[in-house]
Amino acid sequence: MIQKQIKAAIRDIPDFPKPGIIFKDITPILKDAALCENIVNAFIEELGDTRIDAVAGVESRGFLFGLTLATKLGVPFIPVRKAGKLPHTVKQKVYELEYGTATIELHTDAFKPGAHILIHDDLLATGGTVMATSELIKDMGGVIAGFSFVVGLGFLKGREKISPICDKVIILANY
Ligand code: PRP
Ligand code: MG
Repeated sequence: MIQKQIKAAIRDIPDFPKPGIIFKDITPILKDAALCENIVNAFIEELGDTRIDAVAGVESRGFLFGLTLATKLGVPFIPVRKAGKLPHTVKQKVYELEYGTATIELHTDAFKPGAHILIHDDLLATGGTVMATSELIKDMGGVIAGFSFVVGLGFLKGREKISPICDKVIILANY
């Protein structure tokens, strides 16, 4: 049901941002307030009684549903940001991309050691971004409570990469 609604709203953009890539544009979802609410409710239903002390959302599209989800769960939202954006003291993680590297950062006081953190992003592709996020959170003493995504690109095997960290992997629409 929710998968059908999400897929009906997503717009495929061929050759963006590079030739050969079909980009899954989620912006039409954001224009549909009822669908946005259904998405957050679907995450909450799938989470069931999973202990969540905070939701960590990955810049930038992980902020879209991440804050709404955290607010509805009644827990803090933690922004996971690209390097140089967070103003307070940070801890960072460098990770490999197809070409080169990327760096993500968290505030050192983002959560208390032992907190159960749900990692949220809009889309799971190779899993590299959320893998690095989970390593950073674990280095800081957090416990990975699960992962949640609006969309998953199954052919890129991201789920296989991250499920050894935590088998609670919620993907609302699979391709
Ligand atoms: C996209 C997407 C995920 C990530 C998935 O973000 O929003 O964060 O890539 O890729 P992976 O599973 O292979 O790591 P992008 O880097 O395009 O940035 P944005 O969210 O700021 O648009
Ligand atoms: Mg992103």
